[in-house]
Amino acid sequence: MSRYIIRGGEPLCGDITIKGAKNSVLTLLAASILADGRVVLHDCPHIADVDTMIRILQKLGCRIYRNGDDVIVDSDGISSDKIPSGLASELRSSIFLLGSLLSRLKKAKVAYPGGCDIGLRPIDIHLSGLRELGVKIVEKHGYIDCDSTKAHSADIMLDLPSVGATENLVMTCVFLDGTSVIRNCAKEPEIVDLQNFLNAMGAKVSGAGTGVITVEGVKRLHGVEYTPIPDRIVAGTYLIGAAMCGGELTLNNVNPEHLSSLIAKLPKSTCKITCARDKINIICKGRCESIPKVETTYYPGFPTDLQTQILTLQTVSKGTSVIVENIFETRFKTVPQLLKMGADVTVNGRTAVVRGVEKLTGAEVSATDLRGGASLVLAGMSALGETSIDNIYHIDRGYEDLSRILPAIGVKIKRTD
Ligand code: UD1
Repeated sequence: MSRYIIRGGEPLCGDITIKGAKNSVLTLLAASILADGRVVLHDCPHIADVDTMIRILQKLGCRIYRNGDDVIVDSDGISSDKIPSGLASELRSSIFLLGSLLSRLKKAKVAYPGGCDIGLRPIDIHLSGLRELGVKIVEKHGYIDCDSTKAHSADIMLDLPSVGATENLVMTCVFLDGTSVIRNCAKEPEIVDLQNFLNAMGAKVSGAGTGVITVEGVKRLHGVEYTPIPDRIVAGTYLIGAAMCGGELTLNNVNPEHLSSLIAKLPKSTCKITCARDKINIICKGRCESIPKVETTYYPGFPTDLQTQILTLQTVSKGTSVIVENIFETRFKTVPQLLKMGADVTVNGRTAVVRGVEKLTGAEVSATDLRGGASLVLAGMSALGETSIDNIYHIDRGYEDLSRILPAIGVKIKRTD
């Protein structure tokens, strides 16, 4: 089993170029089967979730391959409407294929989704939205069997602004006659990216980034070459790393606006942040003051996908911080690992109280989920001595090999098998 070994205590120094966002690339790959013709997605990260999505699309009959950072999709041969449960359980995004399969083949059979072990991940909003569009759904033997031969445009109100449900419903509506409206939809940048991608292929989607999306049905979509938005969560993870370790870091290929909620929280007394159009420079000196309160919420609020990383920064900040997780119920699973490294954190339901200590100390720890695993890397980077992290397959789902990327900014990290 692979693990990361990190010798902590080095300040960061150098540049990192951020790749396309995992959560965009996965959705755009699902959406690419809507095109008649070839889709080329640039700047796709080499991460396990993208590889799994490629394998799922291959199983469905697509010709799809990588060429460096490009992924090329030709879905002419798509034949199967069934996503095998083994692969689907590896990747929650397989549920996003529901919308695009229904648009493309009028039928879809998807196994109940898997993904990060961060709590219940219901799909009721996806399914009730599909039902409002006239999709017939039968749930049995662990599969969701859908038929959209009688689907029609509709005006849908989501119970919650779910990212996945919004994306799925947009994809389902793309070929429906008439105009569909999705209300109380998610406003995340990945939704805007999906809209831009679909429109570049000839769709008529508007309103993404606001709470109401309108989809005017079209007859067909054509192939396209497209570059997804940069990964704001990966970029945010590195910014938090700089706040913890000190030093100077420049991130290239980022959209600073997508990171405003994090930038607003990082303490100005120790972190000097300068943003250009697609760059962020951060210079950090000394131990950060604690952030009194961080509450996760929907975009543009503080993202749940950066919650464990900001909590980890609080473990070594001066003072006490309260972290409230409003999106996923069990997203404090990394705390026991941080305690092994000397952190002082108390969790009560969806709230964690973090009392900063001077330094963490290296320990043998285990990644329990994707973002939690990345947070342990940050903890190891700032800790005294050596940290060994196992179960790093969780981290591989969303971060390119960190033993290749982080040494370039001065981190002493290696990967062992
Ligand atoms: C996406 C992201 C994930 C991120 C999350 C929230 C991808 C591949 N993943 O996940 O990294 O953490 O957005 O920004 O893009 N909910 C329901 N019923 C549903 C769907 C969701 O109750 O049918 C609830 C969830 O339990 C959660 C909230 O809605 O409390 C938000 O979830 P959602 O936005 O759907 O997250 P994902 O799309 O799964």
